Amino acid sequence: MNCSDKARPPVVLAPMAGISDLPFRVICSELGADETTTEMVSAQGFLAAPKNSAAYRFLLETSPKEPYVNVQMFGHNPLWMADAARRLTELNRFAGLDINMGCPAQKVTGSGSGCALMKDLPLAAEVIRAVRAATNLPLSVKMRTGWDDQSKNAVELARIAQDEGVDRLTVHGRTRAQQYGGVSSVQDIAQVKATVSIPVFANGDVFSASDALALLAQTGCDGVMVGRGALGNPFLFEQILAAQEGRPVVLPEPALILRLALRHADDMVRWKGEHSAMLEMRKHFSWYLKGLRGAAELRRAIHRTESLSEVRALLERRFALEESHA
Ligand SMILES: Cc1cc2nc3c(=O)[nH]c(=O)nc-3n(C[C@H](O)[C@H](O)[C@H](O)COP(=O)(O)O)c2cc1C
Repeated sequence: MNCSDKARPPVVLAPMAGISDLPFRVICSELGADETTTEMVSAQGFLAAPKNSAAYRFLLETSPKEPYVNVQMFGHNPLWMADAARRLTELNRFAGLDINMGCPAQKVTGSGSGCALMKDLPLAAEVIRAVRAATNLPLSVKMRTGWDDQSKNAVELARIAQDEGVDRLTVHGRTRAQQYGGVSSVQDIAQVKATVSIPVFANGDVFSASDALALLAQTGCDGVMVGRGALGNPFLFEQILAAQEGRPVVLPEPALILRLALRHADDMVRWKGEHSAMLEMRKHFSWYLKGLRGAAELRRAIHRTESLSEVRALLERRFALEESHA
């Protein structure tokens, strides 16, 4: 089943480089994300990588516990993008393919990829056409509202994408120039939704269940994508689901957050080995601990550790404390 067939607007996890890896995607799926997307994959890098390269093996690994995972590609060369799309489709593990036309990072836009494609709509159209011809997977494009305030053109790109046979769009309501600053423009997203007939998912600044419902109501969009709001709070997916179904939104107790942090670390260690997992988990621990009493001290103690057993001991001492306060 395609997640867009659900009776309520789907709520999906955003692709996030360095974050939306297999363990995090599985956790978000279990907590109610209707879809997830891999970290962005360079078409050129993927094509050039030796077969079974460890980097791409990790980037492209999926789990049966993820009901619907898309793969996201970036690049600017239509031939490479088509070739990569064909090979990613042949892996036979992805439910959909997404083209990144929103990344603002200089290392991506510098070569003409990501959001730089919004500055060259004829090339964006060529890329879409080539990828569309190379895959029969559901195809989506993720974009911003434009390169900068003077050249907002999400509506034009949306029309092109629809004409080229794209199945769905996601619009993050900021320009490339805004990066992650300022406010995501609800009006700009709504304008895209009003222009095309293919489904449009709204993205930007959803940090609570009420943010998600408001964004859907204000844009009329068909689904909502959550990025930074899920960092340290994958519970946000079940909260949004509850709100959509008219159930009370229950915020997790600190002990539950810490247990999830520990489970996340366990999964990461099993997946990547203890050394790299503990490094990867540092940022996640900082996010999980945000807002907890004594977070700064616990964060410092965790950052001094090198093994999961040390983190487990620190967190279990903290669970006992939280439970005695409960
Ligand atoms: C750390 C980080 C990494 C990101 N990596 C990607 C990426 O690989 N591909 C992409 O399309 N967007 C990427 N994004 C953008 C998000 O998918 C999303 O569009 C943006 O964060 C706005 O949504 P939010 O306000 O819910 O976070 C990234 C964002 C962050 C914070």
